[in-house]
Amino acid sequence: MNTSQRLFFRCLAFAAFFAWICGATLATGQTAAPQTPAILLGTAWYPEQWPESRWDADLALMQKAGIHMVRVGEFAWSRMEPTEGQYDLEWLDHAVTAAAKHGIVTVIGTPSAAPPAWLTQKYPETLRTMEDGRRDQHGNRQQFNFANAKYRELARAMAEQLAKRFGHNPSVVGWQIDNEYANVSFDPETRAQFQQWLKAQYDTLDNLNTRWTTSYWSETYFDWNQVPIQINYGNPGLLLNWMRFVSGTWRSYQKNQLEVIRANADPRQFITTNMMGWFNGYDHYTVAQDLDLAAWDDYVGQGHLDPVKNGAAHDLTRGFKGKNFWVMETQPGGVNWASINNWLDKGEVRAMAWHDIGHGADTVSYWQWRSALNGQEQYHGTIVGPDGTPDPLYEEISQIGREFEKASPVLAGTSVKSEVAILHSYDSRWAIEWQKHNKNYDPVEEILSYYDPLRAIAQSVDIVPPTASLSQYKLVVAPGLNVLSDAAAKNLIEYVNHGGHLVLGQRFAMKDNDNGLWPQRQPGPLTDLLGGRVEQYYALVDAVPVDGKWGAGEGQLWAELLSTKDPDVEVLMRYGKSNGWLDGQPAAITRKVGKGRITYLGAWLDKNTMAEAANWMTDISGVKPALGPVPEGVEVYPRYGAKSTVYILVNFSKAPHTVKLPATMQDVLSGGPVQAVTLQHYGVAVLTSSK
Ligand code: GAL
Repeated sequence: MNTSQRLFFRCLAFAAFFAWICGATLATGQTAAPQTPAILLGTAWYPEQWPESRWDADLALMQKAGIHMVRVGEFAWSRMEPTEGQYDLEWLDHAVTAAAKHGIVTVIGTPSAAPPAWLTQKYPETLRTMEDGRRDQHGNRQQFNFANAKYRELARAMAEQLAKRFGHNPSVVGWQIDNEYANVSFDPETRAQFQQWLKAQYDTLDNLNTRWTTSYWSETYFDWNQVPIQINYGNPGLLLNWMRFVSGTWRSYQKNQLEVIRANADPRQFITTNMMGWFNGYDHYTVAQDLDLAAWDDYVGQGHLDPVKNGAAHDLTRGFKGKNFWVMETQPGGVNWASINNWLDKGEVRAMAWHDIGHGADTVSYWQWRSALNGQEQYHGTIVGPDGTPDPLYEEISQIGREFEKASPVLAGTSVKSEVAILHSYDSRWAIEWQKHNKNYDPVEEILSYYDPLRAIAQSVDIVPPTASLSQYKLVVAPGLNVLSDAAAKNLIEYVNHGGHLVLGQRFAMKDNDNGLWPQRQPGPLTDLLGGRVEQYYALVDAVPVDGKWGAGEGQLWAELLSTKDPDVEVLMRYGKSNGWLDGQPAAITRKVGKGRITYLGAWLDKNTMAEAANWMTDISGVKPALGPVPEGVEVYPRYGAKSTVYILVNFSKAPHTVKLPATMQDVLSGGPVQAVTLQHYGVAVLTSSK
């Protein structure tokens, strides 16, 4: 190659690099899609809060930190439509283009969580009515009525304008509809819709009256329009149906915008909304049905990351679509809304980011980039301060950015697979929360009491609804599955008959699909399969002793007295001396059914005994740790690809730990083959092994 050829190729390479970094300008005036890594670091950016002359400096700082995604627009309705029907999206177009020039793709949020003042003034009926009958007002957000036809019309028109403008923009990768659905409305129109919805579910009032046992307290309805809205306390059938109506209404609220986006956007642009982990204001399985991708906002609030509870929330979110998801918002250090808004420790934000990726997130996006000078959230954590210069955390964020870029080639196309599933349903959580029977009974804590030891052993657990396909799991656990539909019962029975091991936890199948009591004792329609049943349940003030195969320990909060009918049922644990009724009676039983097995655990076991129970459950089901044993405090997250498996390791304990690997692996972040890795407090390793 002569000198001029060399120069030519150098220029070509430079041009390619320049295009990657800056995005090439297309003939249309739009910029080409920036080439981004498979694992994205992102941030919420509010260009409408800053003069356009400042944007480039912000975007350059983002680019330097390895940020490749901004989410914009989700509260900017008053800027997008300053007067009714007069849309101004020019500025947003500039922002998207400016971001692309810095190698940053955009997710556009529809602004329906924050309607403009002119809208609520002109159409006050679009404001929600609160539980106490007062109308909400302008000045905060989420003050709209989710069921109101006029509001939906205006929100849809706004979303349509956005989709028409950005639906083919190469650097817009996706859409977020609204923001954190939460507030519902108690106005007469919403109530009328609820009554219509009930009519569609129950067909006749006779049917509804029977299934809700409304002869109780003279609740019988003679006309659909007599049915009230009840929350927290009321007829259990009515309470459950109100929450199902709320879920369906959020779904249709979302669909109203989703349809116009789909009609005007490239199919490559995903549509999502940002959910809230364990929040139970609606059934997330219902709402997620129409989305392409699940996403959630992951905040620690006061204290420090609890990798178990937070990890389970990731797994829950992954279960909404059964695939990788996004962390659409997370805290850059601290928040402004907890009782004490302490900052996460140095290194903890990075550890949390890798914990997110390990659980199946493909994007981690920080809320927010820079402190708004005024507005309700001035004290919230940011990456850049009000002065526009980097906060101390900026360097840690940049490290995450560099690491995501480095690990992206091996993580691309990988996903999480688990041998263990935990079943979760909103119906069951609501049903228990409305009638806890022991004020300390928290259905999420019940799930976590199983999740914690099972995840530690298997190093990966799925959380899925009870009607999900279960054939890929060696072990399926159903803690607190209080409401059991016929379809779910059939699914579980089939799972056992096909050779699976099903573990039922306390409070299983007390309720049918109308939140009525099953006329059989627990486990309701699974009683014959179990060959035993619950004779009585007891809410506990004091813990009761338990003893047996899993050692001696305690049951707390709740104890179910089990009996065995069939001779092949094995008693695993018995209660010790307590209230007389429970003394010496079975607390856990199991039965082999062909190649499958069904187990019932009637006691809420203490941590150590539960760990033993989890050992037994996994051993007998053939569940193995994904990587192999690791020291306590170190978490392992496997992600599987076609050619290799990636193991992410994070040390959450204060002490350093060395993990010996079962085989030589590539250390992705430090480079080179390794047979062991030493992790400091909040230390991270990303390892890959070929298949
Ligand atoms: C989220 C919300 C964001 C921001 C953040 C602060 O719930 O979606 O807009 O308010 O909280 O932590």
